[in-house]
Amino acid sequence: MHRIETSRLTADHAGIARAAELLRAGELVAFPTETVYGLGGDARDGRAVAAIYAAKGRPSFNPLIAHVADVGTARRYVTWTEAADKLASAFWPGPLTLVLPLREGHGISDLVTAGLDTLAVRVPAHPLAQALLAAFGGPVAAPSANPSGRISPTTAAHVHAGLDGRIAAVLDGGSCGVGLESTIIGLNGDPALLRPGGLAAEEIEAILGRPLARHATGDAISAPGQLLSHYAPRGAVRLGASAAQGNEVLLGFGPMACDENLSASSDLTEAAANLFAALHRLDATGRPIAVAPVPDHGLGAAINDRLRRAAAPRDS
Ligand code: TXA
Ligand code: MG
Repeated sequence: MHRIETSRLTADHAGIARAAELLRAGELVAFPTETVYGLGGDARDGRAVAAIYAAKGRPSFNPLIAHVADVGTARRYVTWTEAADKLASAFWPGPLTLVLPLREGHGISDLVTAGLDTLAVRVPAHPLAQALLAAFGGPVAAPSANPSGRISPTTAAHVHAGLDGRIAAVLDGGSCGVGLESTIIGLNGDPALLRPGGLAAEEIEAILGRPLARHATGDAISAPGQLLSHYAPRGAVRLGASAAQGNEVLLGFGPMACDENLSASSDLTEAAANLFAALHRLDATGRPIAVAPVPDHGLGAAINDRLRRAAAPRDS
């Protein structure tokens, strides 16, 4: 791939204006959201969207999330439902993605949807993401801003380490507060949890007043991009560890001796925010990683989902 210079844009008016101008020119810009950094391109421009897949080295056309400024904009692209209204009122802007049927005349590139008749939409809460969407004035397709299969980025430095030379710019907004990708809910049928994420499934069920359908991984109905091996560090990952063995470094949870602790006070929100940055640091040691157990409720379900994928057998 032809290398280009990746510029670092600052979190001010000039940086946001430049980022919007690059998006309008069909270029790719990584930007912070409250979950992880996204690799943004104009969702209506097939060439820009194709460039996202190329920059990430994404092996196949997995559908992408369209990021929009507000509910009104989302409704231009998808058929709205009562459940969508309840969830958007409760949780947007925020770490929630809704999958809904595409509307006639939507104008979104089919590379975004990978040819499906549904679109994943999200209104991010991060002030820089909001400012960028307002300045750009259109839908922004954005997967996480990491090379395909690697650990997701929660700082601008993570993005530079993975994608320098492949994208036009990174808008630097410091660390992401939530630290896990958005929770994805399918609403083109009975409400279903397609990907656990930064908003606990229990909170969504409380607003809907009913349990979410949960599809097993690998189920054709679940988020098609949920590959089993993902978020992979270079070394092996062993889960459920009570101590490091041999050469391993230990990723802890709760009060314990370890190399990195997700949360010494056993706080799942703090653990979510620390997860990817801790994995990046342990990965840099080049040693295998042992991981202490994390409780499986609330945000712990999403943390364990990411850890299982990090530990899964790799294709390559
Ligand atoms: O927090 C996030 O969601 C971040 C930030 C940047 O917003 N984005 C993100 O995108 O995690 P990505 O591409 O890494 O994950 C998008 C997921 C994939 O698993 C994909 O299969 C699923 O969304 N998806 C997208 N469109 C879909 C659709 N129409 N139906 C079902 N799943 C869909
Ligand atoms: Mg991703």
